Amino acid sequence: MRMGPVVPVLVVEDVGHARETAEALVEGGLKVLEVTLRTPDALKAIQRMNLVPGAVVGAGTVTNDKQLGEALSAGSEFIVSPGLTDKLGHAAVKSGVPFLPGIANSGDIMRGMDLGLKHFKFFPAMANGGIPALKALAAPFFQCKFCPTGGVSPDNASDWLAMEQVLCVGGSWAAPAGASPETITGLAREASGLAA
Ligand code: 3PG
Repeated sequence: MRMGPVVPVLVVEDVGHARETAEALVEGGLKVLEVTLRTPDALKAIQRMNLVPGAVVGAGTVTNDKQLGEALSAGSEFIVSPGLTDKLGHAAVKSGVPFLPGIANSGDIMRGMDLGLKHFKFFPAMANGGIPALKALAAPFFQCKFCPTGGVSPDNASDWLAMEQVLCVGGSWAAPAGASPETITGLAREASGLAA
């Protein structure tokens, strides 16, 4: 979460473009890449992107322990989930992999803290009330750090990053489907230049 201000959230439809997409993002300064398990090619994409020097590739949209195992076997260096179940949480903590579960309320955070976690994805960030909601939620959990994701954009990313408890933001805007590597590098450069 401290390796850069923005974690690109990737939906890889065609594994043939995975490596060049990762190269373009790394060239633009975004090294931590979240590949969502939302497409049939996602696990293969993680393997291909892992070959790119400098890339730190993890799996997103991991919703159960079976997917956790598959993501780890594919070489994921971190795991992101839209939510937090006890089963997935225990399995992820046991595996020792850096784990960023989604939270949307105090109970979610407290269940995460019971597992020894302090770092969470605030999801879906804008639909859950945006910055005022996370400010209110983060106050009692002053020891926790957050990565807001879902509706975060170049227009509001700096405002999120100005919050002390926000270490980075996640978003899909840096690598839109079908964009050329040049376009992706340009978007990544802008995103990586945001103040963390
Ligand atoms: C996620 O999976 O974290 C979100 O779908 C990313 O949301 P965005 O498309 O609004 O950036």
